[in-house]
Amino acid sequence: MKANKRLGAAIASLVLLLSFVACSGKGAYKPGTYEGEGQGHGGAIKVAVSVDSDKITKIDVTESAESDFSEQAVQEIIKRVLDKNSAEIDSVSGASETSEGLIAAIAAALSKAQTGEAVKSADAKGATGEVPEDMSCDVVIVGAGGAGLSAALEAHDHGASVILVEKMPVIGGNTNYATGGLNAAETAPQKALGIQDSVETFYEDTMKGGKNLNNPALVHVLTERSAGTIDWLIGLGGDFSDVGKLGGATNPRAHRPSGGAPVGNHLVKILYDAVQKRGINVQTNSKVVALLKEGDAVSGVEVETKNGTYTIRAKAVIITTGGFGANQEKVVAYKPELKGFGTTNQPGATGDALDFIKDFDVALVDMEQIQTHPTVVPVKNTMITEAVRGNGAILVNRDAARFISEMQTRDVVSDAELAQTGGTAFLLFDQGVRDSLSAIENYVKAGLLTEGETIADVAQKMGLDAATLQATVDQYNGFVNTGVDTDFNRSDLPRELIHAPYYMVEVGPAVHHTMGGIKINTDAQVITTGGSAVPGLYAAGEVTGGVHGANRLGGNSLSDITTFGRIAGTNAAEFAAK
Ligand code: FUM
Repeated sequence: MKANKRLGAAIASLVLLLSFVACSGKGAYKPGTYEGEGQGHGGAIKVAVSVDSDKITKIDVTESAESDFSEQAVQEIIKRVLDKNSAEIDSVSGASETSEGLIAAIAAALSKAQTGEAVKSADAKGATGEVPEDMSCDVVIVGAGGAGLSAALEAHDHGASVILVEKMPVIGGNTNYATGGLNAAETAPQKALGIQDSVETFYEDTMKGGKNLNNPALVHVLTERSAGTIDWLIGLGGDFSDVGKLGGATNPRAHRPSGGAPVGNHLVKILYDAVQKRGINVQTNSKVVALLKEGDAVSGVEVETKNGTYTIRAKAVIITTGGFGANQEKVVAYKPELKGFGTTNQPGATGDALDFIKDFDVALVDMEQIQTHPTVVPVKNTMITEAVRGNGAILVNRDAARFISEMQTRDVVSDAELAQTGGTAFLLFDQGVRDSLSAIENYVKAGLLTEGETIADVAQKMGLDAATLQATVDQYNGFVNTGVDTDFNRSDLPRELIHAPYYMVEVGPAVHHTMGGIKINTDAQVITTGGSAVPGLYAAGEVTGGVHGANRLGGNSLSDITTFGRIAGTNAAEFAAK
């Protein structure tokens, strides 16, 4: 109730501020630089806004604790304010708390810059926008997440003219949120770290994790080409020098930036930088609502924008729209027991492709295979990366006892949590784990972790029995020393939990990955229910089914989107050149 009142008051003051600052024009401002502050997702956002007498000239964010993936939203808000010369703009969907905090900060600064001579803005919402004209190209790619960006680069580098279309205001999709790593075997970074791994073991782990429901041919491609994908990404300027272990992996093969920084945001950045360097046409805020058809072949897409629809004629189309983990209706239709579960997915992951492919008689596979991630903060839906467990964290229940090997696959850990009293668990780690993985700093900044100087201290703050938790940690540390977990047979025991302070956070399962989707072959061609390939139509990434079977291993998604994105881009360009 208190929180609601605070939210109501915050909205009221934002509305009041915006009513003062929805003005621009001659003599609107007293020239200078003004500071303002708002509350984002991670805490205070402070800005310095420069104005001349008529317009806003510059906005600098001087303080922010927002996550890395919200940077695009920050840039989009700044662009919108500068374009409109007003803080009366819409939030960026998918980053609403960051947007509102930033807009409030800018509005606060502008209110200080007001001279009282302002005139009302002439810009009505959307009035400046024009319907884009119809376009054409060799290859159009639908969805600018990691798969779409990888496909765009390869299609371009194989000689195609490319348009990349994204319905959200920001690019990156779920890839922005990926944290723990990109799986690959027999890579240069593994060799540099002395890690023994093989493509064969990677293949076997993936098939076993997927309960052998996976399409073996696709898994062979995924695993055999993974090292080449790492080389390609390093060639684009990527840093994949830290290699860790995630659930279900026999060997460390989750590649991420040095220090254990989040991998997804880094991946999007290097791919998007390369896209920009090549001058590839990227259209955001543009939703594909239909595929164009000529005979049996695809011939382009119909795109909806807030200002109207237009078409892009193309010789080949690649679908990289991602999964449907953010579409509760679709999730429940395929797996009713997930009704009411939260999701780790960005709001654009709604499975639009499942609707716009309908005219092509496309085969769908494994649609009911939907994965939950076991360490997601309830209500906030923030995923705590599996890499925290990989680097040594343990899970305990409300009795302060361990109940599962933390390095089991996601389906197993999720089910074990749901079987505990309250249906959730507590993740516990120490400063040693925090120091080993810089991705944890984002959880600290976001205020998600409860900290204690001793195990007893953190137990008491979490409402757990201190003596029992201490005994649980002592027992676990003993397993680390002997190298054998006689309670749960945890495969990996990287470090004792002995370095204060200690950290805890309540976690539970939330919808994470939809393993099912469009049927593809090893050339990333889309396959019909009759078993033939649709001429010119390709798909890659989470929109497809068959790579991950009944359960995806952590780190295999980024491997999938980059490797199959590249294959789709290459083959679409070659098809277009025929
Ligand atoms: O826990 C994680 O970092 C998630 C990784 C993944 O879904 O691949």
